[in-house]
Amino acid sequence: MKATVSPASRLRGRIDVPGDKSISHRAAIFNSLAEGTAVVRGFLQGEDCLSTVNCLRQLGVRMDLDQSSGALTIHGAGLHGLREPSQVLDAGNSGTTMRLLSGVLAGQPFFSVMTGDDSLRGRPMERVLSPLRQMGASAWSREGGRAPIAIDGGGLRGMRYKMPVASAQVKSALILAGLFAEGETILDDAGHSRDHTERMLNAMGAQIDTDGSTHRVVPVENLAATDVNVPRDMSAAAFWIVAAAVHPDAEIVLSAVGVNPTRVGLIEALEAMGAEIEVTEERFNGGEPIADITVRSSQLHGIEVDGELTLRLMDEVPALAVAAALADGRTVIRDAGDLRVKESDRIATVARMLKAFGVEVEERPDGMVIEGTGRLSGAQLDYEGDHRLAMASAIGGLVAEGETTIERSEAVEVSYPGFWRDLEAVSGAQLISR
Ligand code: S3P
Repeated sequence: MKATVSPASRLRGRIDVPGDKSISHRAAIFNSLAEGTAVVRGFLQGEDCLSTVNCLRQLGVRMDLDQSSGALTIHGAGLHGLREPSQVLDAGNSGTTMRLLSGVLAGQPFFSVMTGDDSLRGRPMERVLSPLRQMGASAWSREGGRAPIAIDGGGLRGMRYKMPVASAQVKSALILAGLFAEGETILDDAGHSRDHTERMLNAMGAQIDTDGSTHRVVPVENLAATDVNVPRDMSAAAFWIVAAAVHPDAEIVLSAVGVNPTRVGLIEALEAMGAEIEVTEERFNGGEPIADITVRSSQLHGIEVDGELTLRLMDEVPALAVAAALADGRTVIRDAGDLRVKESDRIATVARMLKAFGVEVEERPDGMVIEGTGRLSGAQLDYEGDHRLAMASAIGGLVAEGETTIERSEAVEVSYPGFWRDLEAVSGAQLISR
């Protein structure tokens, strides 16, 4: 399906973005391993999280999804209650599903096979399979560590492991495997990746102690089913935060968005660029901080983004790139090499998007240099179905001169099913022909 976005004269309103993708996956997986029944409210009904639900159902977990309220009721199978799937598990487009479930499957005394769509079958899985083998699981993949993967688990031993990449998915997979292992698992992290796993599992009775960049996981007898109110997704809010900051006549309010410190890199980068962003009513929702965010039209200037800040805004680079293109001066993004193995090669696809909008950009192995022009020209875009590229392009289209068309616009369903509806609501016009 093709979406056509025309420039909007003003952006106004309050948007309730959907539930956090990372936290929705974790709430479903961890409660499946728990004793008792839990209700997950605000569960993200995007394709990625539904892939997780489908895989868990095939592993024997009973789950009821109330689509109108967004509540997912999970009848936990307990740590040792999963059963061998009779079919290949399909993780769809979702790296989180494949990597986190790999950690769970490594702990099961049975054989499972997992695959995914074209994009996921091209992404590196060795980063989880290799340490899981070191813990004692048998694991296979196609050439180069690509899916389909197969895991024959059970009999894991704890180990000390230095993680070569700062990845919350790898960390989470190894923590999950550690729950099933004999003895302690100690993980030395390569950076402070998102910590939703540690927070949620500890709330469920696990013992994961983090000291600096070292995590210690002690195996547990059982986990307690725990209701979760899923915060709204910062990675979805990101598109509106950028839209309001770059549009000349905008004020957008985003309520109850997750503001976990490992996820707010985009806000910090935009503030450094001169954006007017108010974060108010900070409060706790379960184990996660949430807040209301108000963003107004701002005059932006280019900055340099690297190190820990890059890690904390990695998923937001497509949105940040649109802001950089509309800022005054040059923006340099470094230490973002992992973007090359996301749902698309996001260094290449972001550069392609900016060039199509008429922006000068230099691609580097681990990032890019964007020359802010202050203006975009409407473009025809297609990104092999990468959801975040489709949404970033749409935001560019709201401020570009002329029309912007986006092929495979249904890709937004992966993480943000109501995206096009919200775009129409906030721009107050029927901007989309689909
Ligand atoms: C995620 C971790 C990140 C992120 C992805 C979701 C998670 O990936 O890019 O969208 O839920 O743990 P990496 O762990 O590969 O960095």
